[in-house]
Amino acid sequence: MMNFVTRLLARSQPVIAEARAQDAAAIAAVHAASFQRSWGEDEFQRLMAERSVVAHRATIGRTLIGFIVSRITAGEAEILSVGIAPAWRGRGFARPLLDLHLRRLAGLGVRTVFLEVGENNAPAGRLYRRAGFREVGRRPGYYDGATTALVLRRDLG
Ligand SMILES: CC(C)(COP(=O)(O)OP(=O)(O)OC[C@H]1O[C@@H](n2cnc3c(N)ncnc32)[C@H](O)[C@@H]1OP(=O)(O)O)[C@@H](O)C(=O)NCCC(=O)NCCS
Repeated sequence: MMNFVTRLLARSQPVIAEARAQDAAAIAAVHAASFQRSWGEDEFQRLMAERSVVAHRATIGRTLIGFIVSRITAGEAEILSVGIAPAWRGRGFARPLLDLHLRRLAGLGVRTVFLEVGENNAPAGRLYRRAGFREVGRRPGYYDGATTALVLRRDLG
């Protein structure tokens, strides 16, 4: 039987906030559960120490359930990675995380955001298209020699 806390958490909405270096281990864990080629805690620590990197996290209670990381270069940003822990997917949690992240990028003067997504990654594709991203390029065989990566773009403001 589900206990009270578990039921409460199951109905919760995530709290979204800027991610800090101390979130690196939890972010790396979500990343490892989300991608075949995972980035370690050290890599996230290094990334988040860069001044040009912006990262947000989504938490429910004390559990980090999602993250998004971008790097800004000369008024443009690239979303480097985004993930929601498998147990929390399919509940619409990525959208508010992405929206807040894009607002923060806009506040930092970013005009254009790019990202790459596998053409067969339906959840990510839907997420980005609903958020206003449009395809501007294709990179055949980009990921594993077989999967085409789509380059998506969204202009901010
Ligand atoms: C992509 C990801 C972040 C989306 O997070 P999420 O919180 O589960 O997203 P949502 O619940 O908002 O679902 C996003 C959309 O995908 C749809 N979707 C969810 N699961 C799906 C599936 N298995 N097949 C097709 N569409 C699916 C949802 O219906 C929603 O579309 P809608 O808004 O038109 O209804 C999450 O799936 C994830 O972490 N995937 C692994 C890592 C990854 O691929 N990251 C992106 C790399 S570019």
